[in-house]
Amino acid sequence: MKKIAVVTGGGRGIGLGISKALAEANYVVCLIGSSDEDRYSDALTLLRSFGNEVFYFKGSISEASDRKAFIDSVMQKYGRIDLLVNNAGVAPKVRLDILKTTEESFDYVVGINLKGTMFLTQLVANQMIRQEKIEGKKGTIINISSFSSSVSSPNRAEYCVSKAGISMLTKLFADRLAGENIFVYEIQPGIIRTDMTSKVTEKYDRLLQGSDFPIHRWGTPEDIANAVMVFADGRITYTTGQVLHIDGGYMNVRSI
Ligand SMILES: NC(=O)c1ccc[n+]([C@@H]2O[C@H](COP(=O)([O-])OP(=O)(O)OC[C@H]3O[C@@H](n4cnc5c(N)ncnc54)[C@H](OP(=O)(O)O)[C@@H]3O)[C@@H](O)[C@H]2O)c1
Repeated sequence: MKKIAVVTGGGRGIGLGISKALAEANYVVCLIGSSDEDRYSDALTLLRSFGNEVFYFKGSISEASDRKAFIDSVMQKYGRIDLLVNNAGVAPKVRLDILKTTEESFDYVVGINLKGTMFLTQLVANQMIRQEKIEGKKGTIINISSFSSSVSSPNRAEYCVSKAGISMLTKLFADRLAGENIFVYEIQPGIIRTDMTSKVTEKYDRLLQGSDFPIHRWGTPEDIANAVMVFADGRITYTTGQVLHIDGGYMNVRSI
């Protein structure tokens, strides 16, 4: 039986890496992004080349009506959701010191990264609770947060706050859903080469050569996708709320 995966922001960057790994592993992949489908025509062709259906929905996870329409469409088409990967996220449009940043930027970043993730998860979790177990579980939820969940960057406070909130969502949903046979995990990426980091490559090139990063290279979307597959494939079930740091060793190993 094919499994059904929902990947937010699955059309590019880390999300596309995750979608590719899932399509390759025989999942039907359902994506949401705020861009027109045309923007992702190459990505969708690539994903379909693995042989399964791929469904793209244009909408914003920050909008309740879009979240509902997306999940209703997935349910009408496929009847269940085995895996939710909460990957969609934005950085502030302009990096401003915490003493200067605006409410508008806070609402934009937190509205997508945190509110969107919380209420999309709520919708999907309620659906997972209603469905039959497969291989001992009703579903898996994986949150892509960031090492910014716990590392301070005062020039993008709203991003750090949104990611810290996602880490708490991991705990809350893991706690609430364990008894429902739904497992919740979190991946904290470090510095990954995507559109999001393309404007700060010089800064990150420098940081990655320093002693804080034992593995001196950029991460790739495939590095994150590999971690998603570890949680998705169902071999780790005697834990929930587990966090995996995919960050070149930054959080686990730092030396002075
Ligand atoms: N790159 C890094 O170094 C890094 C490090 C730590 C954590 N992360 C996290 O990893 C996730 C993916 O990052 P990335 O580097 O791949 O970023 P990216 O290249 O900028 O891609 C962001 C993705 O999110 C989607 N998205 C943005 N706003 C959306 C909305 N309102 N509704 C639905 N989808 C939306 C985008 O699609 P549309 O543009 O079509 O909406 C796109 O697919 C983010 O949560 C990010 O915070 C990234």
